[in-house]
Amino acid sequence: MSILINEQQQSFHLTNGSISYQFSVEKDTFLIHNYWGKAIQDNEGISDYPRHDRSHSTNPFNVEAREYSLNDLPQEFPTNGYGDFRETALEHRYPDGSFITQLKYDGYEVYEGKKALEGLPHTYVNKEDEAETLEIYLIDMLYDVIYTLTYTIFQNYDVITRHVRVKNNGNQSVEINKVLSMSLDFDYSQFDLIQLPGSWGRERSIVRTPITQGLHRIDSKRGTVGHEYQPFFALTDPTTTEHHGDIYGFHLVYSGEFMANIELGEFGLLRAQLGINSEHFNWELSPGETFQTPEAVLTYSSKGLNGLSQIKHRFYQNHLIRGKHQYEERPVVLNNWEGTYFNFTEEKIDEMTDEAAKLGVELFVLDDGWFGERNTDTTSLGDWFVNRDKLPSSLKTLAENIKAKGLKFGLWFEPEMISKQSQLYKQHPDWLLKAKDRKESAGRDQYILDYSQPAVRKNIVKQLKNILDNVPIDYIKWDYNRNMTEIGSQSADIRDGEVSHRVVLGLYEILEELTSSYPNILWESCSGGGGRYDPGMLYYMPQTWTSDNTDAVSRLGIQTGTSLIFPVSSMASHVSDVPNHQLNRTTSLKIRGDVAMSGNLGYELDVTTISDEEKAIMKEQISFYKEHRSLIQYGNFYRIINFYEASCNEAAWLFVNDNQSEGLFYYFKVLDRTNPMLKRVKLVGLNPQALYRINQTDEVRYGDELMNKGIFVENKQYYDEISDQDLHGDFRSLRIKLTQVK
Ligand code: GLA
Repeated sequence: MSILINEQQQSFHLTNGSISYQFSVEKDTFLIHNYWGKAIQDNEGISDYPRHDRSHSTNPFNVEAREYSLNDLPQEFPTNGYGDFRETALEHRYPDGSFITQLKYDGYEVYEGKKALEGLPHTYVNKEDEAETLEIYLIDMLYDVIYTLTYTIFQNYDVITRHVRVKNNGNQSVEINKVLSMSLDFDYSQFDLIQLPGSWGRERSIVRTPITQGLHRIDSKRGTVGHEYQPFFALTDPTTTEHHGDIYGFHLVYSGEFMANIELGEFGLLRAQLGINSEHFNWELSPGETFQTPEAVLTYSSKGLNGLSQIKHRFYQNHLIRGKHQYEERPVVLNNWEGTYFNFTEEKIDEMTDEAAKLGVELFVLDDGWFGERNTDTTSLGDWFVNRDKLPSSLKTLAENIKAKGLKFGLWFEPEMISKQSQLYKQHPDWLLKAKDRKESAGRDQYILDYSQPAVRKNIVKQLKNILDNVPIDYIKWDYNRNMTEIGSQSADIRDGEVSHRVVLGLYEILEELTSSYPNILWESCSGGGGRYDPGMLYYMPQTWTSDNTDAVSRLGIQTGTSLIFPVSSMASHVSDVPNHQLNRTTSLKIRGDVAMSGNLGYELDVTTISDEEKAIMKEQISFYKEHRSLIQYGNFYRIINFYEASCNEAAWLFVNDNQSEGLFYYFKVLDRTNPMLKRVKLVGLNPQALYRINQTDEVRYGDELMNKGIFVENKQYYDEISDQDLHGDFRSLRIKLTQVK
């Protein structure tokens, strides 16, 4: 791997032998993007982009050639004011009120490894030789402000990370209105856009559309990421499929308001940008201060959507997720939320945990409703002490009793929130996040704590530590259940335009402190389900509650979309009761189990009221899962049938371990039809030479046979004995275990 630099041409070529990324300096000033994709040998790295004298184009200052216009050049970090009329990567307000910025190239530095970002989550190296970093320096031509564009290329992953630092070396403050983490221009236009839109309860569907001329934006203005859009998009060749073709992925390691711009300009250049949303952003950079953007992760694959997923799963697993649980098998959970909601007693918990232990569950999670006076969602957020009316014998005793049954103990918190009906609000009404002199809006009857204020952060850390130091807690579900409105701070020290980002920085500070102080705890992030499922949270918490929607069919879509960019080990996935509480659908325990065990398996129902027959099925699911969870959580995951491409009526998933000796295949069918066509499915990722046994049967098949000839899912010998269910009827699933015998 190396970063090749041609000093004479002022060109840069980042390559690891598998991918190449090239840009160069022109007119001693501008950074021009030249190439990104499969590795090429071109060492010159200079632009071959033809220059034309276009009607109505402007040549920038100090350039006389009429055919040289920033508006039709592929750029690397565009600014405004000098004739590029597309989206900028940077916008300032200078002390004189001007917003025109021209940056000039001012040198570079290369070093082995990758430096940490300060106070922001980031991908990391374990050893210096795993990556190489290039820093490009740009200077503002009028003010003493320096910009550092940082690029890191990884040795074993087709990944480049980028972020930007802005330093004010002058003696006057400068306001930053916008500074994105990355921008680049592709010099061709034939792309589809893939994004993951959704809503509460239907997060991350895969939507693919051709890109037409104009600006396409994916963003959040909610103070958080939200269920609606993911800080991710991909650009693909129109011919790209699940397993073949070019795909470029862009993902922001950030948990706040983000902005992705995809702009196809008049001359067929495609601009791709990602960073903090500029909408609510206005940062004062005082003399001597530095502002650092979050990190963007850029991924390239020539192997289609699955290829992109493979890279992202491994990369996040090995270079983003941290801590004790990074590679540890995740426990089977029973969460009481859908089983009891707020309506539980100590006796009920005792009965539920007795039953859970018998079924093989390993961890019990006490969800919302255990603290303050919380019997509905209108009260007590901020009062993180146990409700003794509900749990008279103390949280510690409750936890100890549960642990005595052989279960681990987990607890729900929502530490970024405050209820008006709380002791905390009575004492500190000024800790509620809202712009000065504005009225505040409620969401789920709750408000957000202003984490930009240090005193607020200190109080919450103290309250949480008080519990964590006294109660034997193995797991925490960290929830966040509303969006920010009236964004601003009641503190005179904090400028409103900085609050949205400062609150996220405050959250990261708390998460760093708590996760490093309690390394044995398994942290799960949640935001009304998957409203804040992003790489930033994954850096602190290795798993996320994927969605509040636990319906098996809905989950086929949600988990498919999630699997495009996040590793399976990060997806918490529960079996719940029927009719399903979110959409009233009744499905079998078999399909609910098969869907849920394609992530980190848990149950979320009242196990004291289920039938013996259901208990037997659950027991089998749990024991099968325990036997196969390392393959599921940490194996290679393939989408064999993409739910969205199959009209949301079918899905097929395959897990294969690293040495290809084991595979686990799931086929799901939503609605049946009369006299259906038969379904042959071709597998991938197996060893073509190996001979695999199918389930416990005597049937053996070669890997090449399974991959090229495929299997008919209707074959009776593939059905497992426990559920004895074939594919006839709605909401059916099939599970096939492949074990190498030779
Ligand atoms: C959110 C979570 C749920 C549950 C409730 C409790 O909606 O996503 O899983 O914890 O809060 O109030």
